[in-house]
Amino acid sequence: MPQTLSVIKADVGGYVGHSAMHPELLDAGREAMTQAVQSGLLIDAQAHACGDDLFLVMSHERGEDNEEIHRLAWDTFQTGTEVAQKLHLYGAGQDILVDAFSGNIRGAGPGSAEMEIEERPSEPVIVFMGDKTSAGSFNLPFFKMFADPFNTAGLVIAEPLHGGFEFEVHDVKEASRIHLACPEEMYDLLVFIGSPARYAVKRVRNRQTGEVAAVSSTDKLSLIAGRYVGKDDPTAIVRCQGVFPAVGEVIEPFTTAWTVEGFMRGSHYGPWMPTSVDQAHPSRFDGPPRIVALGFQLAEGKLGVPRDLFDDPSYDNARDEASRVSDYLRKHGPFEPHRLPLDEMEYTTMPAVAAKLSDRWESME
Ligand code: F6R
Ligand code: MG
Ligand code: MG
Repeated sequence: MPQTLSVIKADVGGYVGHSAMHPELLDAGREAMTQAVQSGLLIDAQAHACGDDLFLVMSHERGEDNEEIHRLAWDTFQTGTEVAQKLHLYGAGQDILVDAFSGNIRGAGPGSAEMEIEERPSEPVIVFMGDKTSAGSFNLPFFKMFADPFNTAGLVIAEPLHGGFEFEVHDVKEASRIHLACPEEMYDLLVFIGSPARYAVKRVRNRQTGEVAAVSSTDKLSLIAGRYVGKDDPTAIVRCQGVFPAVGEVIEPFTTAWTVEGFMRGSHYGPWMPTSVDQAHPSRFDGPPRIVALGFQLAEGKLGVPRDLFDDPSYDNARDEASRVSDYLRKHGPFEPHRLPLDEMEYTTMPAVAAKLSDRWESME
């Protein structure tokens, strides 16, 4: 019987400001997950937090895009919003963009990453949780995991990986997709995914077996709502070992604090800092952006106790690098390349200021 892993996430209220999650809100998420397991809807489930985002990690047998699973996530975010309202948390219901659930969580605000798998005799899986960054931020780490032999030794020396991986890339503005195979089409792939604000890697498959290796959330809140409403802090699920990169190859890309968009007001570039769950509360300039990796060893769909993979001194260098890069970028203040280009900023006063000063611009032609 195939199993499905669904990670559905939303920011329904921050504590304090947008920096972290109130324990009562996280408890409400955990309670909803426990009840859904007891009712038989889910095989297993957990609720976790990264910054101000609530991540529901659910294991079930109902396939991807299942209405009942999506409704459960929707209801859980509604309950979370009520807790946030009661405690006057900041931005209660922030990512909930529609008034009523209409069968699927996609397009309603929350982000989702789902994969249907035939569980292997041993199935190591990593769930990544990001905060203060954006859909598309996984492009670079996914490329390193699945296409860069300097990151993933298995691409060169392990037979099951040697045939390469296929990337499904979404054009988030045009709502279209393309499949590109590595290593042959690597340069074509990079033309697109090197621009993560528009092109995001949705899914990766092993070309020899066809099995899904990774999936990420590509939901763009601003494109759904037509205006800035909050950051589409992303999530991803990655299978490890055997015909997939090893755990160590999957988390190796995060030894560098890559520059991603997000940070203050979703309008600045900043370094993506890998941290433990305990350190995933971005406060300095509402950042730096965070990435947490929870490792699960599935057992007939049971999640078990997650391993907090960046809770490791090997990642101290990346954290130091992120702090140093933050210091450097912050010195630019309101100037690019710390500030995002004009058409990428989530907050802008440009139209109003431009309108106010329109008659003071003198033609020089
Ligand atoms: C970034 C983020 C925060 C807010 C900032 C202003 O993703 O969530 O940086 O953009 O704290 O928030 P408001 O406008 O709600 O005061
Ligand atoms: Mg928030
Ligand atoms: Mg957030």
